Amino acid sequence: METGSRLAALSLLLFLLSSCVCISPEQIEPLLYDEQLLWVSGVMGEVNTYRIPLLTFTPKGSLLAFTEARKSSSGDMGAKFIAMRRSMDKGATWSPTSFIVDDGEKPDGLNLGSVVVDEEVGSVILVYDICFYHHKCNPSSIMMVESRDDGLSWSQPRNLSVQLGVKSFIPGPGFGIQKRYNPAKGRLVVCGHGTLAANGVFCILSDDHGRHWYNGGVLKSIPYNQQKRAQDFDPDECQPVEMTDGSIVINVRNQNSYHCRCRIVVRSLDGGLTLPVENTFFDYELVDSAVSAGALVKEGVLYFTNPSNEHSRVNMTLRWSLTDGNSWVNKAAQIWAGPSGYSCMTSLNSGSPEDRKFIFVIYEKGHKNYCETVSFAKIHLYGGR
Ligand SMILES: *[C@@H]1O[C@H](CO)[C@@H](O)[C@H](O)[C@H]1NC(C)=O
Ligand SMILES: *[C@@H]1O[C@H](CO)[C@@H](O)[C@H](O)[C@H]1NC(C)=O
Repeated sequence: METGSRLAALSLLLFLLSSCVCISPEQIEPLLYDEQLLWVSGVMGEVNTYRIPLLTFTPKGSLLAFTEARKSSSGDMGAKFIAMRRSMDKGATWSPTSFIVDDGEKPDGLNLGSVVVDEEVGSVILVYDICFYHHKCNPSSIMMVESRDDGLSWSQPRNLSVQLGVKSFIPGPGFGIQKRYNPAKGRLVVCGHGTLAANGVFCILSDDHGRHWYNGGVLKSIPYNQQKRAQDFDPDECQPVEMTDGSIVINVRNQNSYHCRCRIVVRSLDGGLTLPVENTFFDYELVDSAVSAGALVKEGVLYFTNPSNEHSRVNMTLRWSLTDGNSWVNKAAQIWAGPSGYSCMTSLNSGSPEDRKFIFVIYEKGHKNYCETVSFAKIHLYGGR
């Protein structure tokens, strides 16, 4: 063998060794590797409460964390900022908070929201709602801001209701997706829920990197547009992920505990155009008290986070599935035993051995109440090895 090809063979061997050792889904053993409080309610920036955290990677390998900064109360209405922090070193250190959107003194201000990364053009888009509850305002508007420089600067808010029509729609909370596989490779898919009576899961879609948006699939509540009673079918906040077969699986809050105190799952086979009832089921293993949860697909493994308890928001737990959600590995990693609420996950996908080992979780965490802090957790998937 020539020296050149020997060297090539040796480096291939070293590469295979470094990337294969410990990296097999059967060996997943999540370890809480590092944790930092990104926001503390009532302490920082004269903000009453930080709630509804979102987390995303960027095309350049940074992490962006967002949350609502509720100005004067912990309630869902009221005036808010969108707060953001940015990490360029995989979550080790974070920039100071910048307030990228300010809704002034609105009695029924903004609500987050979904963050979606367009890897084809390198942009980060944040979609949120204002006036969702029609409290001293009308109508509700779907808004969008965009960053083309890795989250450093943000556009002026744009009113997407002009294209989508007027309706109450809170995206997520969580991330939207850009389709990596066909059907509809490249499409942006943002899913969320509707008004309190006309509730359900709704997806909005864009096939041109967020310039034009149109309405996609709908999974309506029953009875639709009528006051709900206990145990009515009321699909609510949701998190979509794309499976490697190109289908979109949306994990949904079961607001009125229809059928079970567990998660609703709906699958779209046409890139978010439809959310068929016949592709809707209940995941009895994912016990839930009706809350916004996190989902993520990394290297063919489906991850899920929620406060895993039938009755209250405690016990933030990470589950994982090696079978696209048809079953869950019979182990669970507890992230926080105490009060915990909404969560969102992301990961970096450079393909480097380091990035393959970690996922990141942002979640509401407290000692007496889950609204006390927003925490960032770095999870080593292979027990720290
Ligand atoms: C957004 O656009 C809709 C539809 O044109 C309009 O009714 C609504 O008032 C606009 N909202 C804002 C905040 O400008
Ligand atoms: C926490 O979640 C795990 C996994 O779902 C479950 O086995 C355990 O009973 C939960 N504990 C509490 C206190 O809810």
